[in-house]
Amino acid sequence: MSERPRLLPILGQNHTGRSAMTCMYRCGNACDHPVPNESDNPYFGDVVQAEVSRRGVVRAGAVGALVLGFAGAGAAAATPALAAPGGSGAAPDLDAATARHGGAPKALTFSTIPPNRLDNFVVPNGYDHSVVLRWGDPVEPDAPEFRLDRQSAYAQSKQFGYNNDFVAVLPLDKRGDRALLVVNHEYTNENLMFPGFTSLDALSVEQLRVAIAAHGLSVVELERVGESGQWKPVSRGARRYNRRITALATRFDLTGPAAGSAFLKTAADPRGKTVIGTLNNCAGGVTPWGTILSGEENFNQYFVGGDGVPEADKPRLARYGISTSARYPADSRKWDRADERFDLTRHPNEANRFGWIVELDPFDPDAKPRKHTAMGRFKHEGANVIVARSGHVAAYMGDDERFDYLYKFVTDKKFKKGGSWQDREHNLTLLESGTLYVAKLDYTSASEIDGSGKLPSDGAFNGTGRWIPLVRGDKSFVTGMTAAEVLTFTRLAGDAVGATKMDRPEDVEPNPVNGKIYVALTNNTNRGTGTNPKADEANPRTANRHGHILELTEDRGDHTSEAFTWSVPIVCGDPADPATYFAGYDKTKVSPISCPDNVAFDGAGNLWISTDGNALGTNDGLFATPVEGPERGHLKQFLTVPFGAETCGPFITTDNKSVFVAVQHPGEISGASIEAPASTWPDGDYAKPGVVVTWRLDGKPVGS
Ligand code: FEO
Ligand code: CA
Ligand code: CA
Repeated sequence: MSERPRLLPILGQNHTGRSAMTCMYRCGNACDHPVPNESDNPYFGDVVQAEVSRRGVVRAGAVGALVLGFAGAGAAAATPALAAPGGSGAAPDLDAATARHGGAPKALTFSTIPPNRLDNFVVPNGYDHSVVLRWGDPVEPDAPEFRLDRQSAYAQSKQFGYNNDFVAVLPLDKRGDRALLVVNHEYTNENLMFPGFTSLDALSVEQLRVAIAAHGLSVVELERVGESGQWKPVSRGARRYNRRITALATRFDLTGPAAGSAFLKTAADPRGKTVIGTLNNCAGGVTPWGTILSGEENFNQYFVGGDGVPEADKPRLARYGISTSARYPADSRKWDRADERFDLTRHPNEANRFGWIVELDPFDPDAKPRKHTAMGRFKHEGANVIVARSGHVAAYMGDDERFDYLYKFVTDKKFKKGGSWQDREHNLTLLESGTLYVAKLDYTSASEIDGSGKLPSDGAFNGTGRWIPLVRGDKSFVTGMTAAEVLTFTRLAGDAVGATKMDRPEDVEPNPVNGKIYVALTNNTNRGTGTNPKADEANPRTANRHGHILELTEDRGDHTSEAFTWSVPIVCGDPADPATYFAGYDKTKVSPISCPDNVAFDGAGNLWISTDGNALGTNDGLFATPVEGPERGHLKQFLTVPFGAETCGPFITTDNKSVFVAVQHPGEISGASIEAPASTWPDGDYAKPGVVVTWRLDGKPVGS
């Protein structure tokens, strides 16, 4: 907490609390474009044999205990841990893994952090924090040292990327003293990366390639500091797993029914089965078999030349927010100068190769990441899974766009929870085949919803809902669309079946303790304006600036069910605003919250919510609330991030000793630059995105 406070005015704010600069770089000014969903889809208010890889890492599970132990796996099942290199040969200890879920706080007793606009990372008394990694830090063992004035794509391809978003921490040993940190790098902000920046047009091709390389993911081996909840990267020589995945060079296999289809073939990949790179990776999840899922979100902004594609392709591009009238939309990054595949006039199918869920095995540095077509293609915020009672795996996903949809994927095959090599190989195929559903919500009090946020007379925004199957394997359930079409142009399939238009569904995550699904609906200032869909019971406010949380309960607690009930436990904003709701809790005792984005759970099932673009004018933060019992709705702000930043991540380790968050786009205020930073976090010079760990000084579980 040594940073000096900078109380800068918020300049150039957009519709919500986001800076105009964030809007341009992060999502290509999505809010300034027409809503891409023009469908008249009615609004119903209607580890075994040890195999040593290139770095001496033991692959798959044989030797060594595995443990799991960290929450965020999102699954009630224990994660079969992978062998630690040099492990003892002990069998996987699933009991130990499960036991680590103990000791979580039922009541959240930390002192609430008040709203502020400090250029600091602020944590409660009794806690400390440290920066684990920042943009440019070395990741791969041979990474060059970062030099601001001499950046190269080669160096960036080995260094920590820009704008960290999703964070996961997976244990590497039974004591929980070593772990793998996996991070998404969602997007770049060239204004804040390159000294002397004047315009995107003035960037050199090498600088564009730096930006492309700064996208993707990082895998970084961490070690615990003493017995505390603090973590730091291991020394360079000890980095066996460290790896950068980039948009520049990493190859991905396409799996599932749409792989190899005509929609995915390009001149460079005539088989339609291998893609170079991943784009705009936002949120994600951890699977019970120890892999990472990562969502490709606002991929549209990287493509140009949509005006020159065949006429028949235009409606499909437009539905994903790609301009089909201008070669270079006003917010174009013009990456076609660095790589012609970003020019759709020349390569009209290239955009179809992004917008998928990516699965990465961080325990195998040689593993090729995969894009799973069976899980559909949209602006995937992320995906989080839970193992159903039947053993099938259900993945929950949101399409983060105004008036877009909520999805579920249920695997054909069942999860095998043994720790053998064969079990893991099996589990690695689970997401390659299954059924994709979209959500349709029905309401109990439709006629009483007036857009003001006033609760209906039955005292709750709630109702029932159905998961409408879109496609199972090669079988399409959507008239006029093949399975490959449904999977590649999933938004159009959702339109066709009358899915419910939501207020930007971002993170969607099952609570491993109560089994319910929590959806962050960030905001939608277009709700109920002009000819846009009106407020409904699930999206109950007109011009929704502050967002809300949806809680979804599967029928009979069965995650493979096609029926569910839902309610809205939290309607965000200033609690003094009558249009807010905190599950009926005394509003004088809750923290103001705006624009919920990512969610996480601690070992007690408490809901942690991070925010993006606080429209109340103060910094973004991380909040927590119990979801059961008398404390349900007692939402408290746990930390705030520096000026101009968004709180991403969040991840609570299952020993409940550490809270990781990603500080994304600090100082991203219109007009800011390296020379005139709006934030000097974390080092006192210019703003750098970074991952932070927070822990309790007395070693007790966080939150209590
Ligand atoms: Fe990348 Fe939907 O936030
Ligand atoms: Ca997000
Ligand atoms: Ca999450």
